[in-house]
Amino acid sequence: MRQDSERIDRICQAIKQQTGFQPKLGLVLGSGLGDFADQVKAEAVVPYGSLEGFPHSTAPGHKGRFIFAYIEGVPCVLMQGRVHYYEGYSMADVVLPIRVMAALGVGHLILTNAAGGVNPAYKVGDFMLITDQIASLVPSPLLGPNEERLGPRFPDMTEAYDFEMRQCLLKAAANCGLALQNGVYLQTTGPQFETPAEIRLYRCMGADAVGMSTACEVIAARHRGIKTAGISCITNMAAGLSDQPLSSDDVNETARKVGGNFSRLLQAAVSELSSLI
Ligand code: HPA
Repeated sequence: MRQDSERIDRICQAIKQQTGFQPKLGLVLGSGLGDFADQVKAEAVVPYGSLEGFPHSTAPGHKGRFIFAYIEGVPCVLMQGRVHYYEGYSMADVVLPIRVMAALGVGHLILTNAAGGVNPAYKVGDFMLITDQIASLVPSPLLGPNEERLGPRFPDMTEAYDFEMRQCLLKAAANCGLALQNGVYLQTTGPQFETPAEIRLYRCMGADAVGMSTACEVIAARHRGIKTAGISCITNMAAGLSDQPLSSDDVNETARKVGGNFSRLLQAAVSELSSLI
C-alpha cells in the first residue's frame, strides 16, 4: 500500500541519517538467538525505538535494534529482535523491517527462529534448514492493494527458500561439524502453544517444525525478489511429543544453550554465502 511505501522511505531516510552503511545481506535473529549480534564488530547500531513508525518488539528474548557490520567481508544488517503478529501488529507492520532492509539494498536474507519439533525424529537442540513453509494458517502480508513498486500481485513461491543459499548453509554446517535437519516450517499466529491434536494435524499437513514467525517475512521478501534462507532452532518438541508442558522460559533456555553453535553456524554460513552476494 502507498502508505507503507511512504513509511518505508521515511524509515530508510532516518537510518541513512544515522549511518551510510550499505548492507547486502540481512540476518534476522530469532527468540533467544540474538547473541550472534553481540559477537560482531558493529559499524553502527540503530535501535528500532529511534525510528518513528517502526514496530517495537515486546517478546521475551528480543532486544530490538539493527546492527550494521562486516561479517566475513560481507556488509550485513542484523536484526536483533523482530515483532510478531501475536503482539497485535498488523502483518504489514510485522514485515515492514524486511521491506526496509530491501530498501537499504539487502538482496539476500537469512531468517532464524526458535521452533517446536513436529517431526518425531527431531531432538531438542537440533538445527533445521528450512526447505519450504506452510503459511496457510496466518494472513498473508500481501493482502490489500498491491504496490507494483514493491513486487508483483501474485508472487511465485515455488522456491521460497533459495536452492543455492541452502547449499551454502549445508556446506557451512558440514564445515562446523554440525548436523542439520531439513524440513518444512509451519507458522501459526500464536501466542498460545499448540494442542497435541493441532500438532498431529500439522504433521499430516507436512510440517516438521512449528513457530510463530518467519513464513510471513519470507512472503514479503520473495515479493521483493530477495533470496531467502531459514534456520530453525528446535528449542522443544511440540505439544504431545514430550511429557513436558511448554513454556517460553524453556524455549529461551534451549536457545541460550545452543547459542554458541548457532553463532558458529551463522558465521560459517556468511562465509559460504560471500561468493553468491
Ligand atoms: N510452538 C510454536 N512456536 C514455538 C514453539 C512451539 O512449540 N517453540 C518455539 N516456538
